[in-house]
Amino acid sequence: MTIEFKINGNAVALDVPGDTPLLWAVRDELDLKGTKFGCGIGMCGACTVHIDGVAQRSCITTVAMVVGKDVTTIEGLSENGDHPLQQAWVAAQTPQCGYCQSGQIMQAASLLATNAAPTDADIETAMNGNLCRCMAYSRIKKAIKLAATGEVTANV
Ligand code: FES
Ligand code: FES
Repeated sequence: MTIEFKINGNAVALDVPGDTPLLWAVRDELDLKGTKFGCGIGMCGACTVHIDGVAQRSCITTVAMVVGKDVTTIEGLSENGDHPLQQAWVAAQTPQCGYCQSGQIMQAASLLATNAAPTDADIETAMNGNLCRCMAYSRIKKAIKLAATGEVTANV
């Protein structure tokens, strides 16, 4: 079965079964390793990508579900790794082991795309399903606020 969709702005056609998880298509077929496997059951957020601009768990999304859609991974979030969130992540020295971080950033980017000035409660609600076993939650929230307020450049 040929599955056609866009990934990071580029059209792709994959010859894979329709029930292949998008996560494995992204990592193994398209060699984009920034999207991580955590739980495989939609419970941790490590695999978060954007589908038509909205954060979704790629481990529980099949490739058949993204036919004709626009998928964005962490590699496509910005051209040079300079999305305001990526700058804020550096400024706040957010990651510890780093494993959850691409999912965290993709989830946060989806939040800021619809809410440019999130409250603490907005951030907590939006980020609630993205787990971090290193407990970097306070720095993740700080980075999101830095990016939202535009203060990141003053802090770099
Ligand atoms: S790997 Fe997809 S939510 Fe955990
Ligand atoms: S930084 Fe290690 S799991 Fe989040």
